[in-house]
Amino acid sequence: MSELKPTAADWSPESWRNHKAWQMPAYADLAELDRVVRDLRRLPPLVTSWEVEALRAKTAAAGRGEAFILQGGDCAETFDSCTSDTVVKLLKVLLQMSFILIHEMDIPVVRVGRIAGQYAKPRSNDTERVGEMELPVYRGDLYNDFAVDAGKRLPDPARLLEAYHKSGLTLNFVRALTDDGGGFADMRHPEYWELDFMKQNRFYDDYVRMVKSIHHAMHFVERISAGEMHTLKQVEFYTSHEALNLWYDSAQTRRVPHRDGWYNLSTHMPWIGNRTRQPEGAHVEYFRGIRNPIGIKVGPPFQADEIVKLIDHLNPTQEEGRIVLITRFGKKHVHDQLPGLIRAVNRAGLPVTWTCDPMHGNTFATKSGIKTRDFDDVLADVKGTFDVHRSEHTILGGIHLELTGEDVTECVGGAQGLGEDHLSTNYQSYCDPRLNYAQALEMAFLVAREWKKSFNNPR
Ligand code: PEP
Ligand code: CO
Repeated sequence: MSELKPTAADWSPESWRNHKAWQMPAYADLAELDRVVRDLRRLPPLVTSWEVEALRAKTAAAGRGEAFILQGGDCAETFDSCTSDTVVKLLKVLLQMSFILIHEMDIPVVRVGRIAGQYAKPRSNDTERVGEMELPVYRGDLYNDFAVDAGKRLPDPARLLEAYHKSGLTLNFVRALTDDGGGFADMRHPEYWELDFMKQNRFYDDYVRMVKSIHHAMHFVERISAGEMHTLKQVEFYTSHEALNLWYDSAQTRRVPHRDGWYNLSTHMPWIGNRTRQPEGAHVEYFRGIRNPIGIKVGPPFQADEIVKLIDHLNPTQEEGRIVLITRFGKKHVHDQLPGLIRAVNRAGLPVTWTCDPMHGNTFATKSGIKTRDFDDVLADVKGTFDVHRSEHTILGGIHLELTGEDVTECVGGAQGLGEDHLSTNYQSYCDPRLNYAQALEMAFLVAREWKKSFNNPR
């Protein structure tokens, strides 16, 4: 495998400032911004370079079909949601989903949370109408406050530091929960699994069998390890967020001893959103210089040749595992647009790890104006993506979902049979609708079924 060339002399963590930045409103108080950025630069990193390198080896394995990436979490974390309960529930659902995938697919699953830094959102409009008022739009807690108050909607640099602190607290708790000590990673107990919701589902019997088998396997490993091995007591977990506010990410971009290059040490895998991947833009310039594996969202509108150039620009030495292409066409466009992209990337001979975000191309508003997604549309997008990869002889190496461990009512459908009338019961998201606990587990189960159609992997 070739190594990334030493970073070009014309790049620095702040060279993006010489490029046009989309989706980054200006801060009014530049002196305060400068002070905050200086603080951020000297605070300790949240992740380490060796974790980043380890993840890159795993994203490479996923690209070859030897592992599967499960990336998921909130559309937007909020400062208020940095609580024990929210973190525990998200971790629990992601771990359980990963166990389902491992059990069904028999390959390692790489868990990547949209967590500990997923605080900034791209928006379609700069302002929004609330009642009589025209307000600057909410751009995530990293930028401004959701409150309906024009003053609070102005970008506030102090939020960069609060995001760093909340990310650190979140990650500290995630590390504690997933670490040795028989705590949370010990998922042997059936009471951790809530199965009732599956009762209405045609796969209920399969599902119960699978959960029993997972428990059986866990007990077995524990008995044979007799307390010496810690296989089940430590689970690997990585973080990711959209690196949208480049002040935040570049201030935490560092060199480390004994390694070449620069690392974004605020997260393991930052990604470029569908709206900030302009080749000449600030975000692409920033991503060019970091060593992390990087996600690139690709959905309509796009030009296949531009994406090819972008991949080449961001990975000139064609290193495996560097680029995770997260396609999000929606069930409507996956069949007519994904094949062209795959062929263009293949023709250029570029190594990428393909993953699918079946959420962002399937959002719609109900008659009463509530933003939602239909479980069946999400599933159709997943199936369509698997189908296209199967016919193009490429490998779908992962899934990217917006989900929560809470019992919210934001997406319709699934075995619980949530309808549009139920959406107002417990709709919490400030941004996009997420799968709830039951919908997420069911989706994991169905993703595994689709995967098995492509990779007949007898055990
Ligand atoms: C997101 O992942 O929350 C998002 C905004 O996605 P995209 O860039 O694909 O629209
Ligand atoms: Co979203």
